Amino acid sequence: MTETAAAGQRGDRGNLDKVNAAIAPLIDPFQRQISYLRVSVTDRCDFRCVYCMSEDMTFLPKREVLSLEELDRLCSAFVGLGVRKLRMTGGDPLVRRDIMWLFRRLSRHLDSGALEELTLTTNGSQLGRFSQDLAAMGVKRVNVSIDTLDPDKFAAITRWGRFEQVMEGIAAAKAAGLAVKINAVALKGVNDDEVHKLVQWCGDEGFDLTFIEVMPMGDIGGETRLDQYWPLSMLRGELESRWTLEDIDYKTGGPARYARCRETGGRIGFITPLTHNFCESCNRVRLTCTGTLYMCLGQEDAADLRAPLRDSDDDAVLEAAIRDAISRKPKGHDFIIDRRRQQGVSSRHMSVTGG
Ligand code: GTP
Ligand code: 5AD
Ligand code: SF4
Repeated sequence: MTETAAAGQRGDRGNLDKVNAAIAPLIDPFQRQISYLRVSVTDRCDFRCVYCMSEDMTFLPKREVLSLEELDRLCSAFVGLGVRKLRMTGGDPLVRRDIMWLFRRLSRHLDSGALEELTLTTNGSQLGRFSQDLAAMGVKRVNVSIDTLDPDKFAAITRWGRFEQVMEGIAAAKAAGLAVKINAVALKGVNDDEVHKLVQWCGDEGFDLTFIEVMPMGDIGGETRLDQYWPLSMLRGELESRWTLEDIDYKTGGPARYARCRETGGRIGFITPLTHNFCESCNRVRLTCTGTLYMCLGQEDAADLRAPLRDSDDDAVLEAAIRDAISRKPKGHDFIIDRRRQQGVSSRHMSVTGG
């Protein structure tokens, strides 16, 4: 039950008016308003990207995972508390069975105007199947992770991914009228020779492109992050040897800072958790598929929302648990990768929180 409904049921007219006038937004201890919820709807994925997972992952037993109805209730509680942007992530969100049901349910908040954006981040493998449905449910943009345009390298990075399938998925998204943003993790010795090709391709296709610094999340077996880490300050230097980049003010509510590439006309974003910490403007929290809320991607503190969700039908209980969690949101992460150390290493795999 919402605060409004609760006040209504108590017959508390004065209170109801007050609640209707303004439900207090979610504000954290550093005066940041939480308006963006990222929801990892499954920890499973049909790929095994080298920087994200080890090859032999153990996934959660199904009973631990929230049902789609529970995810709807939880997301809707956040929307009721002022969240304006909902992003489904994974693992890969599109491998969760019946996930279109959840998109359809949540699209009612777009219709009512409570939600500004309903969107997802995906590896693209299932976009061929789902792009039309997503567009029909009010999704306007989709973020697709592709670090390379070389099919062999793609196979090496994703271990299990099929490049052609992803390309077909992206084409389907474009045909369905979805705007596409390509996410490329900057990987030294892997895709550093391909950044110009990515810029050209995204420019030609009309896609936004963001480069991301690799973050030290989870045990990935074998390689170390230091081998992979390529600071975006260096990547940008490489880009500027060929393209003219002009910083622009474009904002999505995400952490990227954007430049316009004069030659292609395309937008290029830089997500720099290591070289430039953007935590001071953080507006987001992350929900896992078990109902655990992580207030920061790079910290361990979390709040269990599954218990209040399952223990009571009263949304006021859930809302109180959400507010309590937000009151503990930390100032930021402590990721550092350099020659001497890897610090702030999170024991969680990226697929738990979905980035
Ligand atoms: P837009 O709405 O298009 O701006 O998307 P987004 O950048 O918010 O989301 P996306 O899923 O495309 O994430 C891109 C990368 O940004 C991923 O690697 C995320 O892990 C990373 N990212 C997003 N939010 C944060 C954050 O708060 N902290 C850190 N360190 N990384 C983040
Ligand atoms: N560091 C940076 N980005 C990562 N992603 C997955 N693992 C990592 C990591 N260790 C990216 C994916 C996807 C997004 C949600 O997170 O490539 O684009
Ligand atoms: Fe799957 Fe995304 Fe992790 Fe790759 S980065 S294994 S596509 S969840």
